[in-house]
Amino acid sequence: MTKFPVWIDCDPGVDDSCALVLASRLECLDIRGISAVAGNVPLEKTFRNARAVAKLAGIAAPVYPGAKRPLRTEPHTAEYFHGENGLGGCEIPDSDTPEETAPAWDALYAEAVRQKGELTLLALGPMTNVAVALAAHPDLPKYLKRMILILGGSEHGNITPAAEFNAYADPDAAAMTLKCGAEIVMLGLDVLMQAYAYPADLARVFGADNACARFLREAHQFSLKASARYGRDSLALCDSCAVMYAAFPEMFEGVCCGVAVETRGKYTLGKTVVDAVTDHKLGFENALFVTKIDREAYLRRLEALMAK
Ligand code: RIB
Ligand code: CA
Repeated sequence: MTKFPVWIDCDPGVDDSCALVLASRLECLDIRGISAVAGNVPLEKTFRNARAVAKLAGIAAPVYPGAKRPLRTEPHTAEYFHGENGLGGCEIPDSDTPEETAPAWDALYAEAVRQKGELTLLALGPMTNVAVALAAHPDLPKYLKRMILILGGSEHGNITPAAEFNAYADPDAAAMTLKCGAEIVMLGLDVLMQAYAYPADLARVFGADNACARFLREAHQFSLKASARYGRDSLALCDSCAVMYAAFPEMFEGVCCGVAVETRGKYTLGKTVVDAVTDHKLGFENALFVTKIDREAYLRRLEALMAK
């Protein structure tokens, strides 16, 4: 099996945890590094969680600490959806490997250079680490094969009426990332909300009798209950879409278009403006905007891989 190198930047986070476990089970992915960013919960917790989940999933790659706060806006977290500890209240053991101290942005850049343009960057949290890497190492894009972003959407938001969480949590970083010139695949709420699972689906997907599946089964119950408070009877399995896209792009459909993000705005801060159906009025094309996922195939694959 040919493997390709990936870097996962994340803010675990219940669905980030699922994405990490999924990545650990895909033989085509060579996980070269993981970095944590402040997002769903503060950095101290996302870093701790990324290390703990990596350990549980048997990922040997180093885990680096990243940005403690967004570039300019006030920090915004989502404990109501991910629990106070970011893992839906589930307790998994701390990793006992020595902590990496190099900052995420320098470690990412060094690995990208080492991989000579073959590294795929998956960004599952606010784009702060990516933006700092771009500022510190402006030639980073030429060393990346592509970026796969969990970001934004063309219609409504999930944290405000206008904005998706990762875009809202650091709109300036999202703007820098979208403008950086790397090949970008953007998975926003249009497709993420198609990746929903009903309680029965969750029971199947995480039904295996192994430590990772047991942990994810319990953690997702927390987010499912949070989702119910918003009138939904299902839970979108968001961040795993990026990992699945990296391994099985044929499971998705998308369109190349321009995407920009509002970095100012009383009601629209973090709103991504997607020029997919408006005749390319923005005048540039910077992303493959993913519009569709084969939901059945996604859940089937998740279930099979979680049982490994
Ligand atoms: O908004 C999608 C995002 O929601 C993901 O990055 C995920 O972590 C969840 O919080
Ligand atoms: Ca995330």
